[in-house]
Amino acid sequence: MVKTILVTGATGTVGRDVTKLLSKKGATVRAGVRDQAKARPQFDDDIALATFDFENEASFAGALGGVTKIFLLPPLLPNQVELTNAFVDAAKRAGVRRIVKLSAIGVDNEIQFTVGKWHAANEQHIRESGLAFTFLRPNSFMQNFITYFPPRDGSIYLPWGNGTASFVDTRNVASVAADVLTSDGHEEKIYTLTGPAALGIADVARILSDATGREFKYVDVPEGAARDGMLQAGVPKWQVEALMELHAINKQSRWSAVTADIEKITGAPPTDFAQFARDHAEKFRAS
Ligand SMILES: NC(=O)c1ccc[n+]([C@@H]2O[C@H](COP(=O)([O-])OP(=O)(O)OC[C@H]3O[C@@H](n4cnc5c(N)ncnc54)[C@H](OP(=O)(O)O)[C@@H]3O)[C@@H](O)[C@H]2O)c1
Repeated sequence: MVKTILVTGATGTVGRDVTKLLSKKGATVRAGVRDQAKARPQFDDDIALATFDFENEASFAGALGGVTKIFLLPPLLPNQVELTNAFVDAAKRAGVRRIVKLSAIGVDNEIQFTVGKWHAANEQHIRESGLAFTFLRPNSFMQNFITYFPPRDGSIYLPWGNGTASFVDTRNVASVAADVLTSDGHEEKIYTLTGPAALGIADVARILSDATGREFKYVDVPEGAARDGMLQAGVPKWQVEALMELHAINKQSRWSAVTADIEKITGAPPTDFAQFARDHAEKFRAS
């Protein structure tokens, strides 16, 4: 019997690389996507697509047929807990054996934050399901400087004060996921995935300047202004509040620790910010 690995969130920053790496390793991979026509150009022809939407339970059966393992990337939606848990239940009923879940750093720390509580509730549900699991808990992505808070006219606007974080490159997160999904010994394990150093936003601006030859600067914005800016840009209120919680945690440098988990699993040290900046220099020069 062919053992298929289903990747959810397959068109996103992490999932796209997970899908491609699994295929490169020779695994039978199926990308679960909401819109096949839109997703198809992102993948080689040997990667199978299945229509899958967390918000449409009718899509679960088709995506799960013959699947033994899942890369589970919960969608950022206010009902993440219910949607993801319902999918885990369906996966168990369909005969899935193992789930590798993308979670987030700090979900079991004493500092509570909304998205962390949601991930923690999903983790708990998976534990209780009896399925074999591995939880990947990455720190803030380096790629957020491309997706969530790209520089505008050479300035990075964030309410982080002098806070620092050990940003991680999503390519490393994807490598860990692909390795964990294709090897043994990771059951009931939790990996906290960080970059190699804690950096403040002024450090990030300096590194981007070095990599691009263009001057970047950090503008430490007051929290109220950051909130208003996101609301004015049309970000939903619940998401603004969730992001502001994360900014507040980072302002306090709560997630500055560096772990060895990426190197332990992949055998290679985590990508540093300078390499990330060089690899994406064209995008930053144009931003
Ligand atoms: N950003 C960070 O710093 C950070 C740090 C730690 C953990 N995380 C966690 O990482 C995850 C986000 O990963 P990412 O940045 O790779 O995501 P992303 O780039 O935002 O992509 C989201 C993916 O989820 C898919 N998706 C959205 N809604 C869906 C639905 N209803 N049904 C099926 N698929 C759906 C999207 O598909 P479409 O192409 O159809 O939209 C896309 O493939 C979240 O769980 C977040 O909490 C993020």
